[in-house]
Amino acid sequence: MNKFFIKTFGCQMNKHDSEKIAGLLIKEGYKICALPEEADVIIFNTCSVRKHAEERFYGFASSLKSLKQKKKFILAIGGCTGQKEGERILKRIPFADIIFGTFNIASLPELIKKVRKDKVPVVDIKERFNVKTTSLPSLRKSHSQAWITIITGCNNFCSYCVVPYVRGREISRPIEEIVEEVKRLSEEGVVEITLLGQNVNSYGKDLYGRGKFAHLLYELEKLDRLKRIRFATSHPKDLSDEIIEATANCSKVCEHLHLPVQAGSTKILKLMNRKYTKESYLELIEKVKQKIPEVSITTDIIVGFPGESEEDFLETIDLVKKAQFDQIFSFIYSPREGTPAFNLQQEIPYHIKLERFKRLIRLQNEISLSRNALLLGKVVEVFVEGISKKSKDFLTGRTRTNKVVNFKGNSEWANQFKMVKVKEAHPFHLIGEALSNFEETKRFKG
Ligand code: 5AD
Ligand code: SF4
Repeated sequence: MNKFFIKTFGCQMNKHDSEKIAGLLIKEGYKICALPEEADVIIFNTCSVRKHAEERFYGFASSLKSLKQKKKFILAIGGCTGQKEGERILKRIPFADIIFGTFNIASLPELIKKVRKDKVPVVDIKERFNVKTTSLPSLRKSHSQAWITIITGCNNFCSYCVVPYVRGREISRPIEEIVEEVKRLSEEGVVEITLLGQNVNSYGKDLYGRGKFAHLLYELEKLDRLKRIRFATSHPKDLSDEIIEATANCSKVCEHLHLPVQAGSTKILKLMNRKYTKESYLELIEKVKQKIPEVSITTDIIVGFPGESEEDFLETIDLVKKAQFDQIFSFIYSPREGTPAFNLQQEIPYHIKLERFKRLIRLQNEISLSRNALLLGKVVEVFVEGISKKSKDFLTGRTRTNKVVNFKGNSEWANQFKMVKVKEAHPFHLIGEALSNFEETKRFKG
């Protein structure tokens, strides 16, 4: 009766929500299973940022129709599409039993009971600010790494984005609660944490009347057993000098900043409601590079926003050349109903969007390769995550700058730090060689 299968679409925030859904169900006596065919409850945690992600979910959900005819199970659809579409999902997936929103994770066990009793579909997408989803138990894949939500929602209303509509306004968690959670996790063996929020840089504004993100970093830095602190995502308009300084000063805060620029043309940035210009963004990252030596900077870019001319796109290309990002996540603009940009004229034809997208990726691959090549011959600290999915002969891990490093070694090194000499550079990863204990000792003794 009590096995569940969960499939997640979308960002780290959604993945972490799935950890919470799983943690909550396990606390209620359920067991997780690896195949939908084995499950009594199937949960989809959905993403609605782009149409493509939404269609992928509808595709997966529709494919369960024949299973549903053969076997009794409860189909629960949650996350951003659940929140945005509510009951309308039943038009496309009429055999769904539960639709729940981003605010209603804590109600899932009750909703399952209700459906089992009443045998009619239930929809719960009410915005409930008093339910602390952030402090629900989590089922984490790793015992050494953990995501911690510090702020939910977003106040920025970028004109293309559904997030403020599906996740609500910014709500920060009290600083003591976060520190307490991280302290407990570090005592249980977690050495690397990633602080999550749509805009971590505005952490605290709603709760304390001013930004407290830098303060939070200093507080977490004090926790002895913790070794690495990461965070995502940063909005350029809220990345203050205080935060840059805290990142530079705190030895545990990793030298990696994910700072979405979205576009290189100031005209498009204005239409996107991003509140900075091409020039001010470039100045900001210059400052970051000066204050945090060896920092790696990654970004998100949308191509083909309505009205983006070839000249506008060339501004993006120019910005990418100047910024020398370590990695970019590029997206083809996807119109989302309900957002201001949905009503903009001058939609860009798909073949032009695609051509720009490919040009951008080609350029960035060269830049990523040259950025990675700077590490050739250097020794980097790698936190080993386990055996590489691509090749069983290699271990895989990440540097402080969030670069993937694959190298040969003992599988017992998983969840440990290793010093690795970089031997090969590729656009998306590095190949290295672990230093022997003797070499490591020599290195640390100088
Ligand atoms: N179309 C394409 N990409 C989008 N993103 C957000 N909304 C859209 C959209 N409508 C991208 C942004 C954001 C990332 C998570 O997704 O680049 O930073
Ligand atoms: Fe969306 Fe903009 Fe908020 Fe990011 S900052 S979640 S892009 S509205």
